[in-house]
Amino acid sequence: MNTIALNVNRRAVEALAEPRTSLADFVRDKLDLTGTHLGCEHGVCGACTVLLDGVPARSCITYAAACVGADITTIEGLDEDEVTAELRAAFTREHAL
Ligand code: FES
Repeated sequence: MNTIALNVNRRAVEALAEPRTSLADFVRDKLDLTGTHLGCEHGVCGACTVLLDGVPARSCITYAAACVGADITTIEGLDEDEVTAELRAAFTREHAL
């Protein structure tokens, strides 16, 4: 196990993880940020997308160990984002999934 230290949703975090632990598993299992979903786990569907240093990344095919020192934003970190709020409202209004 290695110590993985990075910033998630503007908060410094640190946890132990195996070298092959995906970023998706890291945020879900170590940080309890279960808003990051897993679908295909092959980098195809996009269900696991997070922002990695401000750029969308598929966390199922990104090693957590490769993200040491990075800034990660999960869906939980977008609670105050205006565009996300509008999108959530539209999903609710239109009964979208
Ligand atoms: Fe489908 Fe990551 S789970 S792209």
